Amino acid sequence: MTKNATSIFAIAWVAASLALYSCGSKKESVKEDYGTPQETIDAPDVAADPITQGESLVKASDCKTCHHINNKIIGPSHTEVAKKYEFTKANVELLAGKIIKGGAGVWGEVAMTAHPEISQADAERMARYVLSLDGETEH
Ligand code: HEC
Repeated sequence: MTKNATSIFAIAWVAASLALYSCGSKKESVKEDYGTPQETIDAPDVAADPITQGESLVKASDCKTCHHINNKIIGPSHTEVAKKYEFTKANVELLAGKIIKGGAGVWGEVAMTAHPEISQADAERMARYVLSLDGETEH
C-alpha cells in the first residue's frame, strides 16, 4: 500500500469513528471506553413512534444526571415539565430549543446546559417524550 492510500484510510477511519461517536452522546461511558463505540450507541428503533424514540434518546443522553421522571434532582422532574406545558407542536419546538440551547429562569436559578450536539429532530423527539409523561397526547 502506498503512503497516500494509508493516510486516506486513516482519515476515513477517524471520520467514521467520529460519526459513530457523535451519535451516542453517552459521554461518561464513551470516555472510559473510547475503543468500542458500537457498544455506546443506543440507536433508536426507526420503526418506533417519536415518543418511544424520544425515550431512548433521553435515556442515552446525559439528561438523567439532572432529571428524574418523577423527582426533582438538579432540574425539574420531567413529569413536572409535562404538567406545566400543554402537548402542542409549539411547545415541542419551544422545549426542543431549550434542550439544544440550554435554559434558565423558568424553574429556578439553576441553568440547564446546552446540548448543541443534539439535532433539532432528536430534540423534538425528546420533547415529545417529556410532554407525554403526564398522559397527555399531542394536540
Ligand atoms: C446540568 C443539568 C441538566 C442536564 C444535563 C439536562 N437538564 Fe434539562 N434542565 C435542567 C435545569 C436546571 C432546568 C430548569 C431550567 C430553568 O429553570 O429554566 C431544566 C429544564 C428542562 C426542561 C424544561 C425547560 C423549560 O423551559 O421549562 C426540559 C424539557 C429539559 N430540561 C429536558 C432535558 C433533556 C431532554 C435533557 C437531556 C438531553 C436535559 N434536560 C439535560 C438541568 C439539566
